Amino acid sequence: MAGYGSGLFFLTVCAASLFGAKAEFKLTIPVGKLFTYELMRETFQSDLEPLGKLYAGSLYDDPIIFKCKQQNFPDLPEWLRFIQRHPNDNGFLYGTPAAPGKSIIEVYAVNKRSYNTAKQTLVIKIVEGKMLPYQAEFFIALREIERVLPSTVQNEIKQDLQKLWNSENLEIVNMTNALDRGGRVPLPIAGHYEGVYVKVGSHKYFSECLLRVLKPEHQRQCAAEPRAKGPGGCNFCSIPSNCITWCKTKLFDLTKLEPEPPAPTMGSGILEAGGDFNPPDSPPSTDYFPDYIVTVIVPLILAIVLCILLAYIMFGRREGVEKRNARTDQIQLYHHYTIHGNADELRGMAGSRGGPPPLSTLPMFNSRTGERASPLHSDNIPLIMAEQDPYSDTLPR
Ligand SMILES: *[C@@H]1O[C@H](CO)[C@@H](O)[C@H](O)[C@H]1NC(C)=O
Repeated sequence: MAGYGSGLFFLTVCAASLFGAKAEFKLTIPVGKLFTYELMRETFQSDLEPLGKLYAGSLYDDPIIFKCKQQNFPDLPEWLRFIQRHPNDNGFLYGTPAAPGKSIIEVYAVNKRSYNTAKQTLVIKIVEGKMLPYQAEFFIALREIERVLPSTVQNEIKQDLQKLWNSENLEIVNMTNALDRGGRVPLPIAGHYEGVYVKVGSHKYFSECLLRVLKPEHQRQCAAEPRAKGPGGCNFCSIPSNCITWCKTKLFDLTKLEPEPPAPTMGSGILEAGGDFNPPDSPPSTDYFPDYIVTVIVPLILAIVLCILLAYIMFGRREGVEKRNARTDQIQLYHHYTIHGNADELRGMAGSRGGPPPLSTLPMFNSRTGERASPLHSDNIPLIMAEQDPYSDTLPR
C-alpha cells in the first residue's frame, strides 16, 4: 500500500515537472496578420492543482483571473491587447504586430477560490511578413470582441466577407473593440453590444460590391440613413449577429500610398559664420498720459463726486429734533413721551427683581384727605384676579 502511495507521488511529481516544463510556449507569427491566443481556464486549472485530478477524480471549475504583461515591463507591448470579461470566461490575447521582433509575455493565473497562482510564458517571435495590399475594414455592431476572437467565429465572419470580396484569398488583419476606437459603453440591456471592427486584407483587388463604398451616392445615402443596408446583391450574411454595418465600411488601397518624405539631411552641427550680432533698436517711446487720465483720473473724480453727493444727502439735509418737536401736536408728543416712559420703566423692572413696584400699582391719593393708602395693603392687590385667570380651570385642584 505504501509502495503504491509513493509510486503515485512520484508520478504526480513527474506530471508537475512536466507541466512546469510546458509552461513556456514558443510561437512564431508574421507581421500584419491578426494573432489570437486563448488562455484556457481548464489548462491553468490543472496547472494550479496537478493533484486534483488524481485524488479528487475531477477538477473544480474555479473562477480564474489572468494578468498578462511583457517580461520586465509593467504592461503588454503596444500591439498586443488582452481581454477577459469575467473570471468564469477564458481570456484572449490578440493584436496585430506591426514590426518584426520578439515579445516575451508572462501570464499569471490566479484561482479566485484558493488563491493559488500559476505562471505561463509565451515567447512570441514576430517575423517579416508581406502587408496585404488591399484592405477593408468592416463594423459588426452586434458583437463583443471576445465573442469574435474564437477561431470558429473568425471563420464564419471570413466566409461572409469572402463572398462580399468575391475571393477565397482573404486574411483577417486586425480586430478591434469599438470601445478602443471611441465607441460608447452600451446600456446593460439585451440587444446592446459594444461592436467590433474587423479589418481584412487580400492580394486581389476590391470587388464590385466593395467599390460601391467609394461612389458619391453611397456617401449621400449614408448621410441620410446611417443604418442603410448594403445595395442589393451585396448582402452576404448568413448569421444575423455577423452582419456588417454597410455605412461604416472603409477601403484601404496600400498600393496607392504616397512614399514617405525623405528624411531630413543632417548638417555638421555648427552654425555658419555670418557678421556681428546687431542688437535690435529700442522701440519708440509712447505717451501714456491719455491712458492714465482715462483709467485713473476719470474714475477718481467720479468717485469723489459720488462721495460728496452722498455726504450731502446723509448729513446736510437732516432736520433738528427741536424743529421736529415744534411742528408736532402737543397731545401726540405727550403720547409719545408716555410710551417712552413706560418702556423705560419696564426695562428697569426687567433688570432686577427688587426694583421699585411700577407706578401704576400704587394706590391713588384720597383727594379729599390727601392721605395715601398703606403700601402693605397695596401689595395684597393681585395684578390679575384669580377668577379671571384663564389657566386656573386647567390646573389640578
Ligand atoms: C489594429 O487596430 C488598432 C486599433 O484600431 C490599431 O491601433 C493598430 O495600429 C491596428 N494594427 C494594424 C496592424 O493595423
